[in-house]
Amino acid sequence: MNTASDSSPTAGVATDHVAITPSILYFGTPVVLLSTENADGSVNLAPMSSAWALGQVVVLGLGRAGQTGRNLRRRPDLVVNLPGPAQWAAVERLAPLTGRRDVPEHKRGAFRFEPDKFAAAGLRPVPSELVRPPRVAECPLHLEARATRVRPDAAGDFLIVEAQVLKVHADPRVVLPGTQHVDPSAWSPLIYNFRHYFGLGDELGHSFRSQTPRPHGTLSG
Ligand SMILES: Cc1cc2nc3c(=O)[nH]c(=O)nc-3n(C[C@H](O)[C@H](O)[C@H](O)COP(=O)(O)O)c2cc1C
Repeated sequence: MNTASDSSPTAGVATDHVAITPSILYFGTPVVLLSTENADGSVNLAPMSSAWALGQVVVLGLGRAGQTGRNLRRRPDLVVNLPGPAQWAAVERLAPLTGRRDVPEHKRGAFRFEPDKFAAAGLRPVPSELVRPPRVAECPLHLEARATRVRPDAAGDFLIVEAQVLKVHADPRVVLPGTQHVDPSAWSPLIYNFRHYFGLGDELGHSFRSQTPRPHGTLSG
C-alpha cells in the first residue's frame, strides 16, 4: 500500500512497470577488446563490455576464470581496443573462445580454447608503443594502458581491474581535424545491449561540459 503523504514527492505518481528477473543485466555498454600477454609471451584477445572511464582511468569487470584476468594479475600491460559497429561480426567470432587451454568447467561445451584469437577473428595485430600487447588494427580507438589494481569483487566472483591509460591512438576519421577531440558525430561505439549488438542512433543533444568545437565555431556537441 502506498502510504506516502500528500506532500511526498511520490504522491500520486504511478507507473505500469512490472517486476522482472532478467538473467543478465547488460543494459547497453560499449564493447571493448582487451589485448593482454600470456605467460609464454603470446597474445590473448577477449571481448568484454563491463568497462567505463573516469578521467584517464578505465575500470574493467572480468570473470575470475578467464585468461584475461589471469594475465592482468601477473602482466599488467593491456590495450583497450574500441571496435565500432563495423566490427561486430569479428567480435562475435571471438565470443565462443577462451585463451585458457584448460577451459573452465562452466564454459565447457559452449567455449573452446583458441591460442590465436586475432587469426580466428580475422583481425590484425599492430604493435603498441608503450605496452607489450599489440593493438587491434581494425578498431578506430586504442587505449594503451597498465593495470594498477586487480582485486576480487565483494563476492569473489569477478575481478575489478583499474587501468591507467598511457596513450590513446585514434583513426583520423574519428578525430576533429586540428584538435585533440574525438568527433562524437564520426565515432560510434559498438553497444552490447542485452547480448545484442547495436551502433548509436542520431545525436540527441550534448552535455553542457562538452568541449568539442562545432563547425560553426561555438563550443558545443
Ligand atoms: C560482447 C561481449 C561482452 C562481454 N563482456 C564481458 C565482460 O564485461 N566481462 C567478462 O568477464 N566477460 C565478458 N564477456 C565474455 C568473455 O569474452 C568470455 O568469457 C571469454 O571467454 C573471455 O576470454 P579469455 O578467457 O580468453 O579471457 C563478453 C563477451 C562478449 C562477446
